[in-house]
Amino acid sequence: MNVFITGTDTGAGKTHFSAAVLRACGRRGVAAIGMKPVASGAEQTPAGWHNEDVAALRTAAPLAAPDADINPYLFALPASPHIAAAAAGVDIDVALIEAAYRRCAAQADVVVVEGVGGWLVPVTADFLVADLAARLDLPVVMVVGVRLGCINHALLSARAIAESGRPSLGYVANVVEPDLQALPAVLETLERLLPGPCLGVINWRDEESLAQAAEALVAILTAPPGGP
Ligand SMILES: Nc1ncnc2c1ncn2[C@@H]1O[C@H](COP(=O)(O)OP(=O)(O)OP(=O)(O)O)[C@@H](O)[C@H]1O
Ligand SMILES: [Mg+2]
Repeated sequence: MNVFITGTDTGAGKTHFSAAVLRACGRRGVAAIGMKPVASGAEQTPAGWHNEDVAALRTAAPLAAPDADINPYLFALPASPHIAAAAAGVDIDVALIEAAYRRCAAQADVVVVEGVGGWLVPVTADFLVADLAARLDLPVVMVVGVRLGCINHALLSARAIAESGRPSLGYVANVVEPDLQALPAVLETLERLLPGPCLGVINWRDEESLAQAAEALVAILTAPPGGP
């Protein structure tokens, strides 16, 4: 099964988690590709334009795919895709993203599609990240960037995901503010108020909890259809 990774915000840990999911696939011998349909914020290097998310997904994936399929659109400006695309004079063609996704899906057992920013970020002027997940017909995992203010962001995002009708596989709580006050109470609140399930709590700079959360998702993605 393939999956769309969204987050409560930019910097929530979507790439951190998506790359771990791809590495977990690799350890289990699952053919997996990571996709970042639209990346904004790129540096020019001697080897060409470079974006950290695209590089991280490419490196973590057990299966290679052409750069144009892993990342159909790359923009220099670190801004919302519709703004970065306009600045580059480009019209984002969602059909082109879908075709790239279908080519990845035809080769892989698991395609991990990382969203852009949060759930309601515009990809084009009138087409949101939520619409992209629907167009690719993917179930969603939400990465909650656990920091001050995250409970509100998480509940708003979960509500918007539910309203969009996309199936949800759950959420991961990714601690991005390691000295957050009352962390256990925040995690308990998320667990109590989010639809769930919680696939894992990822601690700050902790490979073990990261791998565990990733394994939990890979188990769902690779479960035989029709199972319990
Ligand atoms: N649990 C963690 N421990 C240590 N570093 C983390 C953790 N989670 C995220 N980070 C770091 O925080 C930064 C933001 O995370 P990441 O890039 O995964 O967020 P994102 O949701 O993918 O953001 P974007 O919207 O830019 O795609 C990165 O430098 C990442 O390595
Ligand atoms: Mg990212």
